[in-house]
Amino acid sequence: IDIATMAGSEYTSVYSVKDFYRNKSIFITGATGCVGKVLVEKLLRSCPDIKNIYLLMRPKKGQNVQERLQELLNEPLFEKLRRDSPGELTKIIPVAGDITEPELGISIDDQNTLIRSVSIVFHSAATVKFDEALKISVTINMLGTKRLVQLCNRMHNVEAFIHVSTAYCNCDRTDVVEEIYSVEPEPDQVIALTEWMDDKMFKELTPNLIASRPNTYTFTKALTERMLQQERGSLPVAIVRPSIVLSSYKEPVAGWVGNRNGPTGFIIAAGKGFLRTMLCDENNVVDLVPVDIVINLMICAAWRIATQRTDTIPIYNCCTGQQNPITWKRFIDLSISTYCRLHPMDNVLWYPNVRCHSSARINKLCVTLQHTLPAYIVDTFARLKCSQPIMVRLQTKLSKATKSFDYFRTKQWNFRDDNVRRLDEQLSPEDRETFTFDVKQIDWPSYLEHYILGIRQFLLKESPDTLPAARSRITKLYWLRKTVQLVVLIIVLCVLLALLYFVLRISRLIV
Ligand SMILES: NC(=O)c1ccc[n+]([C@@H]2O[C@H](COP(=O)([O-])OP(=O)(O)OC[C@H]3O[C@@H](n4cnc5c(N)ncnc54)[C@H](OP(=O)(O)O)[C@@H]3O)[C@@H](O)[C@H]2O)c1
Repeated sequence: IDIATMAGSEYTSVYSVKDFYRNKSIFITGATGCVGKVLVEKLLRSCPDIKNIYLLMRPKKGQNVQERLQELLNEPLFEKLRRDSPGELTKIIPVAGDITEPELGISIDDQNTLIRSVSIVFHSAATVKFDEALKISVTINMLGTKRLVQLCNRMHNVEAFIHVSTAYCNCDRTDVVEEIYSVEPEPDQVIALTEWMDDKMFKELTPNLIASRPNTYTFTKALTERMLQQERGSLPVAIVRPSIVLSSYKEPVAGWVGNRNGPTGFIIAAGKGFLRTMLCDENNVVDLVPVDIVINLMICAAWRIATQRTDTIPIYNCCTGQQNPITWKRFIDLSISTYCRLHPMDNVLWYPNVRCHSSARINKLCVTLQHTLPAYIVDTFARLKCSQPIMVRLQTKLSKATKSFDYFRTKQWNFRDDNVRRLDEQLSPEDRETFTFDVKQIDWPSYLEHYILGIRQFLLKESPDTLPAARSRITKLYWLRKTVQLVVLIIVLCVLLALLYFVLRISRLIV
């Protein structure tokens, strides 16, 4: 039923977004991840008439799904809901399963419940490890999605299936529009390989298969989009492609950050003083997007596909690069050189300062001088003091982690976001207020200040009470750094003077 009318560019639906979710049952995968958690919290808080939210969860680290759910709901992210409307939390129903298993590992009874009741599906589960073995990446990202589509096609009343992809799945192109690009080889051919090829052969074949893409993550995400296009049947699918997901902009609290993926890992390393140099073209735009903007767009994309069906799959590039760009230089200046010093982390080892180098050779030299050499010196002292030497091991890990992002820090993309802007125009003023995804409003300095404070509080679990001590330590480290710089300058000057003296003596001897 077409329940939408068009008035100029304005789209009006008989339902507001909030009304659309009334009495709906929702199925979410990846709800224990950074994006999924914020989505669940927002749906319950802003759409109080939702019927149920089923979460696909796998037992992990000795915890069953009930225990995992309890742990999830005890997180600070759910504090507002726990305090203001605890009844909403009872709408969450965990469903035990694993997307790598046939039929998603969901019991027949649970499958029947989902088939009968669910009308909106958000698929966020994935492996986001860039260097994941291709076979695992195909099994989780592609086969998992294929199995979910099969289950959804058996559901009686699916109105929207939102797949979370990544803006970087087409990172082999510079201009990325909101459409599905063809990929070589075809998704089914790659899935078929998992059925007979052993791990060793898969590993050997990986560079040929991923071809111009830098890793298995972007490759399998691109293939998944293509597979959805081929296999969705009558399922109303929309795809949301976030760029680099960072902390929340506003909701439920500013600065909530859920994992150490992407730049957050580097910021922690830099804030603690381990990371001093990085391969990065600092004039490039770094496409960061707050997690609450991403999930608001997902919520609205579901409303849109359900209330105005289309033959094609709408794609939404959820990015900031076009409307509110920030360069790597500004990102690093604000987050590391400003806020990591103003709100320092606990037990900082060295004054936070990171230099970007666009030349791989120069960066390698700086890594040797500023990372490797000091790590060996610190470990030598540790051995002399009979304590555990950890710095070299830590630097090796850091170097591996930074390497996998080199590709993304030395290139720039234009992610076109026309569909996102159009969707924004179609929202009522109230919905635009409640489910905002307008990235123009992001004030980067204030956002990044909350991001740094959020890393401290939510990831590192460092209490705000320790800030005065951390600030006093950073002041000492500042003077220590100045002293070291002065000593190095004096040594260099002495060496230069000695050289000059030597040259003059030689020239006098010759004359
Ligand atoms: N974070 C970003 O910067 C970013 C950027 C662009 C796109 N995305 C996309 O956004 C989505 C969510 O990412 P995220 O940052 O929230 O990732 P995340 O924090 O790593 O969470 C991944 C989620 O997937 C679940 N999962 C993984 N394997 C599973 C399996 N075999 N069965 C069931 N669940 C499984 C995880 O469950 P467990 O807790 O059980 O491990 C977790 O809930 C992904 O599709 C990702 O590609 C993320």
